[in-house]
Amino acid sequence: MESLVQQIAACKAEMEATTPDTPELAEQFRIRYLGTKGVVKSIMGEMKNVPADQKRAFGQVLNEFKIFAEARYEAILNSLTPAQNEDHGLGDFSLPGTPITPGSRHPISLVRNNIIGIFQRLGFAIAEGAELEDDWHNFTALNMPGDHPARDMQDTFYIAQNPDWLLRTHTSSVQVREMEKGKLPIRIICPGRVYRNETISARAHCFFHQVEGLYIAENVSFADLKQTLYFFVQEMFGKTVKVRFRPSYFPFTEPSAEMDISCLICGGSGCNVCKQTGWVEILGCGMVHPAVLDKCGIDSNKYTGFAFGMGIERIAMLRYQVKDLRLFSENDLRFLRQFTGAL
Ligand code: DAH
Repeated sequence: MESLVQQIAACKAEMEATTPDTPELAEQFRIRYLGTKGVVKSIMGEMKNVPADQKRAFGQVLNEFKIFAEARYEAILNSLTPAQNEDHGLGDFSLPGTPITPGSRHPISLVRNNIIGIFQRLGFAIAEGAELEDDWHNFTALNMPGDHPARDMQDTFYIAQNPDWLLRTHTSSVQVREMEKGKLPIRIICPGRVYRNETISARAHCFFHQVEGLYIAENVSFADLKQTLYFFVQEMFGKTVKVRFRPSYFPFTEPSAEMDISCLICGGSGCNVCKQTGWVEILGCGMVHPAVLDKCGIDSNKYTGFAFGMGIERIAMLRYQVKDLRLFSENDLRFLRQFTGAL
């Protein structure tokens, strides 16, 4: 026991005096003292020769010795310069990392999320539908039978394989799918992409995005429609914005209206954007036509509802003062990088 304690003290002194300054020498140190056939292990192996009554005290000495050796090795590693401390060839962990450039959201996504957020606060849930629709959900159930002239308002891409299939021309088809589920009341907004066979210009594209809204319950009135949309506009464009409703026509609503807001660019005095009128149209709306409710299996004597639909591109153009619709789908990073997330 006595001699072992001496051995340990000598060994500690030796470790302290050794100052390996390369990774190779540090590794030699580790093998000599902490390796499986190293000094620490072999001294520990002496434990079996220590008399039983001294085992406890010696155990403590040994333990402390082992901790000392490990700490010394740790200190040696830390004293090597970062480049030397390579950690077995895995690379220099002290070098700065390769930065990942964060992207930014697409302006259409930003505006869509904003619209969704506002309606969610009013208790609307999100409903989504497929972009490939059938004639019933896109047209017929919405009170547009085969020969109805209103079908011409929306030039349609039909699918050659099956004349009953088409790329939805509006998100109103999602209304129909939700109504057919038969669970009432319904309070949903439906964001999504829609397609129209149009000549591409600064104001029209063959696809764009819409958000549809639908609220059906007992005693829903036009006053509820106005109040809901008024709240939306104020949240979206600020408290000073004015609204007006103009009578309009949609086959699936009666009465129908288009909602205008006071022009954000000129404040109402007249400019190119509002075509000198001071007003800009932002959405179509109305009370769901009783014939639509009936077609979708809802009792139109008991329930009433309102619906609305707006183009996201249109709102984004007003919000960001973008003059050409094509910019949203050209993927020009110089354009897209200007939208950082703040609306
Ligand atoms: N679906 C119409 C369109 O694409 C927009 C619309 C108007 C939707 C009135 C509605 C509505 O739900 O009530 O032009």
